Amino acid sequence: QLMKVFVTRRIPQEGMKLLQKASMCDVLVWDSDEPVPRAELLEKVEGAHGLLCLLSDRIDAEVLDAAGPNLKVISTMSVGFDHLAIEEIKKRGIRVGYTPDVLTDATAELTVALLLATARRLPEGIQEVKSGGWSSWKPLWLCGYGLSGSTVGVIGLGRIGLAIARRLKPFGVKRLLYSGRQPKPEAREVDGEHVPLDTLLRESDFVVVSCSLTPDTQELCNKAFFSKMKNTAVFINTSRGAVVNQEDLLEALSSGQIAAAGLDVTTPEPLPTDHPLLRLNNCVVLPHIGSATFSTRGVMAQLSAHNLLAGLTGDPMPSELKL
Ligand code: GLV
Ligand code: GLV
Repeated sequence: QLMKVFVTRRIPQEGMKLLQKASMCDVLVWDSDEPVPRAELLEKVEGAHGLLCLLSDRIDAEVLDAAGPNLKVISTMSVGFDHLAIEEIKKRGIRVGYTPDVLTDATAELTVALLLATARRLPEGIQEVKSGGWSSWKPLWLCGYGLSGSTVGVIGLGRIGLAIARRLKPFGVKRLLYSGRQPKPEAREVDGEHVPLDTLLRESDFVVVSCSLTPDTQELCNKAFFSKMKNTAVFINTSRGAVVNQEDLLEALSSGQIAAAGLDVTTPEPLPTDHPLLRLNNCVVLPHIGSATFSTRGVMAQLSAHNLLAGLTGDPMPSELKL
């Protein structure tokens, strides 16, 4: 008997091919680059044994109930899993696959690119060139902040946080601080100093958020958080938008409490084009493209397919989330 698999979006062919050639599967795809509407998701998932989803799909009790008792495995093509109602999934005995490691390098690269673009005001400069605002080489024009001799604070020195730290160190970073429940042995490689969050915020020239979104980190970056940062400090977030209280960030940026912010993640996503953050020159917003290289997305699709198939056959997954 064929097992039904629902794939919630068009994904790189490297992954699709694996699913399509698996003879045990009857694969149904929401064959679009745009998200499946909620009502369609609830309908299409009915009777599915496997669900391959993205971080933009909220998989909650309603979806699980719509799927019904066949559902054995949810494979998300993402490292983050805050969009999955883990307790509900666990209760139903469903296994979960995700895609850590394979996107670490791409996401760390993007974080460095965003940090430099924000600190050195690249979007403003590009805009000035295009609009005729470039009248001369000017000693005081478009000055920003450099990494050489700076202190960088990483919140969440996990796989991606460490990869970011490794890449930033060669820019001449003087001190690399990190916060978190306990010191990590891996931090030695980047001479990371484990400090309380308050110390990190007070001493860092760059504050880089790279933690996962959990009840503990929800709106961690709020008014009190920004008020501890230097007026010359640059804030970077490539984790999840909800780690930040966006109203408080807006206020910190408009009042000069902090110098600038670079965000690859926001609430909501997409951010409405009339959002006040987009009117600020000192805020650089990217459309959640941390893992967006051709090769990384291909490998993510493959890994998601392998996780899904292993979940269907009851085999060990290449990357299973421990529930
Ligand atoms: C990207 O944000 C991911 O979770 O993979
Ligand atoms: C800059 O281009 C310089 O020559 O200082």
